[in-house]
Amino acid sequence: MSESNSTGARVAIITGAARGIGAAVAKRLAQDGFAVGVVDLDEAAGKATVEAIEAAGGRALAVGADVSDAEQVEAAVGRVAAELGAPTVLVNNAGVIRDNMLFKMTESDWDTVMNVHLRGAFLMTRAVQKHMIDARWGRIVNLSSTSALGNRGQANYSAAKAGLQGFTKTLAIELGKFGVTANAIAPGFIQTEMTKATADRMGVAFEDFIAYAAKEIPVQRVGQPEDIANLAAFFVSEGAGFVSGQVVYAAGGPKA
Ligand SMILES: NC(=O)c1ccc[n+]([C@@H]2O[C@H](COP(=O)([O-])OP(=O)(O)OC[C@H]3O[C@@H](n4cnc5c(N)ncnc54)[C@H](O)[C@@H]3O)[C@@H](O)[C@H]2O)c1
Repeated sequence: MSESNSTGARVAIITGAARGIGAAVAKRLAQDGFAVGVVDLDEAAGKATVEAIEAAGGRALAVGADVSDAEQVEAAVGRVAAELGAPTVLVNNAGVIRDNMLFKMTESDWDTVMNVHLRGAFLMTRAVQKHMIDARWGRIVNLSSTSALGNRGQANYSAAKAGLQGFTKTLAIELGKFGVTANAIAPGFIQTEMTKATADRMGVAFEDFIAYAAKEIPVQRVGQPEDIANLAAFFVSEGAGFVSGQVVYAAGGPKA
């Protein structure tokens, strides 16, 4: 390992890691030997993920930060660097939905989604990249979505998720010469609080929503957070160093 902390482990930051996909990625990277900064809106929310990692023999730190706030982002990255070591892996996973048809979408629905996904990924990446450049090694993974291809009721979210794909490709071009790769994962339906919130909003029981979605997916099931964690584990691995600027759709089939 070219850059590691005093225990020899590389340090990864996962945003939105209190639950869902982010928690699964954090646990998987800890299993793979990374010390993990669990960033979420508040420190208390990240404790469960940290406890699970520590119970399995890993090392993690919960840090509270709103990824759309530049000062909080700088402080969070500084704290991870001071307490775990210089972060050289970043998974921009924090996300929210504010779904509505375009004619009913408020400016606040638009701005919130843009701020968390796009501004958040920008601020986090800008704060972490200096550690990657110092180490001449780094891995960035951004969470896009099949919604980047267009999805009814998600003008804000699909624009943000498509935007993250462009962001990813530009990071790959700018940072490649420093040994840093950037890739995006575009999940389809993953069973988390986010998809449960969509079922609730539509007035459908979550089990029925899952069963209906599964019928339309070639592998005949919805995804689990671990399905995405497996792909993230590949992208941040040593062996993935020649794969950069890519978007992999993890959706149980070729289409959204
Ligand atoms: N669940 C799916 O089907 C699905 C599909 C495609 C993409 N995604 C994307 O994957 C990512 C994770 O989704 P999930 O389903 O696990 O969602 P989730 O709602 O279960 O978890 C999201 C986490 O992000 C945190 N978060 C929200 N805003 C934040 C902010 N400003 N700063 C820091 N943390 C913040 C939340 O507190 C929460 O812990 C999101 O980017 C989402 O858009 C999810």
